[in-house]
Amino acid sequence: MSGKQPLTALPGVKKHIRSMSLENIANIAKDAFSNKEIIPLWFGEGDVVTPDFIGTAIHDALKAGQTFYSHQNGIPEFRQTLATYLTGLNAKPVEMERITVTSGGMPAIMLAIQLTTGEGDNVVIVDPVWPNITGIVQLVGAETRSVRMDLDDQGWSLDVEKVAAACDSRTKAIFFASPGNPTGAILPVAVQKQLLALGREKNIWIISDEVYCRMSFDQYVVPSFLDISEPEDRVLIVNSLSKSWSMTGSRLGWLVHPPSLESTMAMMVQYTTSGTTTYLQYGGIAAIRDGEDFVKYMTDYCRIGMEIACDVLAEIPRVILHQRPAGAMYAFFEIDGMADSKQACIDILASSKVGLAPGCFFGKGSEKFLRLCYCRSPQQLRIAMERLKKALK
Ligand SMILES: Cc1ncc(COP(=O)(O)O)c(C=O)c1O
Repeated sequence: MSGKQPLTALPGVKKHIRSMSLENIANIAKDAFSNKEIIPLWFGEGDVVTPDFIGTAIHDALKAGQTFYSHQNGIPEFRQTLATYLTGLNAKPVEMERITVTSGGMPAIMLAIQLTTGEGDNVVIVDPVWPNITGIVQLVGAETRSVRMDLDDQGWSLDVEKVAAACDSRTKAIFFASPGNPTGAILPVAVQKQLLALGREKNIWIISDEVYCRMSFDQYVVPSFLDISEPEDRVLIVNSLSKSWSMTGSRLGWLVHPPSLESTMAMMVQYTTSGTTTYLQYGGIAAIRDGEDFVKYMTDYCRIGMEIACDVLAEIPRVILHQRPAGAMYAFFEIDGMADSKQACIDILASSKVGLAPGCFFGKGSEKFLRLCYCRSPQQLRIAMERLKKALK
């Protein structure tokens, strides 16, 4: 595999976009998509199809003629359903004015970055982090500053003083995800409070990615910034139906923002996507209103996958798994003596037909790591883990 190649040299394209590459997981996977022998544990999605009750709601809405433009912030019924859900889940009430529906978590992050950050600014990103976040910040012409979480026998932890030290007068936002992708680490409330205090003191936006907040293995729901912040704080909370409702391909998510930004968000949506597919939002209503059993099923499914994967990883002498993940759908583990995680993934793919994601894509310092998505059927996961055991001997 070649190094970072610019995608275009065409002079009319903005300089910072010309300098970007698409060196991501899909790049490694591209020749293998159609190969049925490969067990794909490289992407952040499992093998569970969207449940029927959501599919039926989408189908019914389509049949009933819900095919027209949506309100820019989302259809009121869906926003109200989300507001009621979040109010029930978190310590403080959430009004519908604070919710803007998006076509997935990615567009919610993009809205958050476009709202806060421009050329010449910077965003402090807590890593290891999913590479798309860095890509979004680069796409708007801003600088990314990474603050790596600390890792010891207790697992991953964040030193907020390091975050503070990375901020300067051009820092517009601090981004992190909890539970994290790829670490699965959950930020404790005390750390969240420190981050909130830092944001308040320096007038910096906090972008809290809570896409995996329902995928936690020992808590009903992960601590949210909604529990500790006030509506008008500079806090933006990203969420999505992709993971806990198994809707990656539908593209449905939401952003929670201060109520005073409702019209600004409507304007930004109007001038970008012009709204989220109307009939899909009816599927969103069904998912949120009737989906608690399914959310629990997905969490249990991931917990079983996590245990299968981590039990085998623990038997492989070269593997250092510092902590069993507390949530999300990934094991992120170090390999003793491995120099190049990208080459290792290519080699494992060739020898074992298991697709993994290289640690180097998740930020500096993760070159000796590999990421595995365990949201797979136990049968397939067991086969994949046996193959990996041989490959990583
Ligand atoms: C931490 C994190 N945030 C956001 C997303 C985006 O989710 P979506 O598929 O809804 O765009 C992902 C997807 O993998 C993710 O891992």
